[in-house]
Amino acid sequence: MSDERERADVAMTTTTGFDESVLNDALRRAVRAPSVHNSQPWRWHIRPHGVDLYTDATRRLPRTDPEGRDQVMSCGAALHHLLVALADAGQGARVRRLPDPDRPFHLATIEPAPDVDVDIDAGLVDAIDRRRTDRRPFRAWPVPPESTGELAAIADRFGVGLAVVTDPRTRHQLFRAIEEAGRTQDADPAYVAELAAWSGRAHGARDGVPADRAPTPGGIPGRMPMRAFPGEAPPVPVTGEPESAALLLLSTATDSPLQWLRAGEVTSAVLLTATRIGLAGSPLTQALEVGGTRTFVRDHVTGGAHPQMLLRLGWPQGESLPPTPRRPLEDVVTPT
Ligand SMILES: Cc1cc2nc3c(=O)[nH]c(=O)nc-3n(C[C@H](O)[C@H](O)[C@H](O)COP(=O)(O)O)c2cc1C
Repeated sequence: MSDERERADVAMTTTTGFDESVLNDALRRAVRAPSVHNSQPWRWHIRPHGVDLYTDATRRLPRTDPEGRDQVMSCGAALHHLLVALADAGQGARVRRLPDPDRPFHLATIEPAPDVDVDIDAGLVDAIDRRRTDRRPFRAWPVPPESTGELAAIADRFGVGLAVVTDPRTRHQLFRAIEEAGRTQDADPAYVAELAAWSGRAHGARDGVPADRAPTPGGIPGRMPMRAFPGEAPPVPVTGEPESAALLLLSTATDSPLQWLRAGEVTSAVLLTATRIGLAGSPLTQALEVGGTRTFVRDHVTGGAHPQMLLRLGWPQGESLPPTPRRPLEDVVTPT
């Protein structure tokens, strides 16, 4: 769609924009979304009629995320956080995703609407501030099927597949795929340099993965392979207990930036709902970032559907972790 045509559409459909304080509060919550390496790869442009979401090309991670999938999924998670926060204020929103095929970095246009979308659960708003990526080992208690069933039903409403991988052989195959992808990435000096640049961050950093959020070292029975972020793992009170984690694999029928955005929205919906239940989670995307292992997962695990996100969920142990840092809104929001 041309800019001119888009402007015309907007003039026809919208007369007023969002209430300023409602939108500011929603944007503050949107940027709490998880993002690959905490790169926060989003830009928001406030317009008289609403707000536009763009990817920030300067925050691409070309060696970790060569296709830009993780980047768009991170923005999708932020979009879902925004819609939940707007809904909590009683504000509906009309979203046009990828409104201009010639400008794939323009991910969404969000405008006020009279009614909140039935698939946006305003009750998730409190989970936004409590959710953390938790790389500590989980407790030995299994995640009940009612909980994973609730998460699968949410994904289904968004048109995204969610498989709960319980078959031991398939889980083993996925663990091996993550390890193989990790070996491929670690053999690439540019990947290693990129990971080092975005992690091991000291207190006071505004982005990147903090040094005190490294994964707990291996050796725990049932533990899934994790990305080797450098630094110190947070302490865990229960040691030696085997980990019981649910493994959730999100997939889409086609593979396009629109589907990546939707998968990011579902990632947010799943992680926030899990937080509300009392579960913790961490994304594990390495096997889906490397071509060979991604193809393996598609052909042998998702039955030809395109794998987009792998999530590990379980019962957390220890104190809740402090929030990871974010850039101030002034750095990511362009006013009208
Ligand atoms: C698309 C995407 C991919 C991610 N991949 C991984 C991963 O492979 N391993 C990991 O430990 N965390 C992964 N994360 C989690 C981020 O590192 C985390 O969201 C970020 O550091 C901010 O921390 P927070 O989620 O606690 O706010 C991923 C997050 C997203 C959105």
